[in-house]
Amino acid sequence: MTSTTPSRETRFERAVRLCTMLARGDVAPIAQGLWLRWHGLEHPFGLFVAAEAGHHHEHSGGMRLSAVLGTLAIPRGSVVIDFGVGTGIAALTLSRHFTRVIGIELAPDLLAAARRNADRMRVRNIDLHCADVREVTGILDSVTHIYMFNPFGEAIMRDVMANLVASVDRAPRALTLVYKAPEWCAPIEAAGFVLKRSWRFPGGDAYAVYERPTPRG
Ligand SMILES: C[S@@+](CC[C@H](N)C(=O)[O-])C[C@H]1O[C@@H](n2cnc3c(N)ncnc32)[C@H](O)[C@@H]1O
Repeated sequence: MTSTTPSRETRFERAVRLCTMLARGDVAPIAQGLWLRWHGLEHPFGLFVAAEAGHHHEHSGGMRLSAVLGTLAIPRGSVVIDFGVGTGIAALTLSRHFTRVIGIELAPDLLAAARRNADRMRVRNIDLHCADVREVTGILDSVTHIYMFNPFGEAIMRDVMANLVASVDRAPRALTLVYKAPEWCAPIEAAGFVLKRSWRFPGGDAYAVYERPTPRG
């Protein structure tokens, strides 16, 4: 059975997580945590969504994602899709680098929090949709960049890649994909994406950037 009921991180789990970060000198997530609190943003950590299927919620974004995006030459007018937008924390970072952000989220509670977060920050270039990423097709045709924070496993990744390839067949263009905690890379490479660069930050945060060139006509 699949559940979308959130279960909050306990105080003890939170204390252990923070102490581990401090011990590693991994201060970027702590700085981001303070920023989120300062702005009163909803950022539940460790909400398990459909945990039986391996889906979980955890936010990303902040200075590390900004650093990765800063290495890309992102043309004006670029549109990024966040597959599994959660509470929209990464989307807030993406909104500073892209003309438009599309966020797709399976869990209605998380999507509602993402809307409140965007409103609180008065960010107007984020479009949020409650849907399963596998059902997202037509809207992909405007997308130039993709962001994912390891939101799902290999089977869903294969379906998402098939949808992206079909979109590029309809509307030929190059695509750039930023994948945090890259785990399911084989379907991405099978879909014609080529790894351009990867990062590993203190604490183990890893990012990979893939590009798929414009298909030859
Ligand atoms: C690790 S969280 C990342 C949240 C956000 N992208 C960020 O980085 O701040 C992954 C999110 O993907 C969502 N998700 C998982 N499978 C999904 C699916 N099939 N369709 C839509 N969203 C999904 C989960 O509910 C979860 O909120």
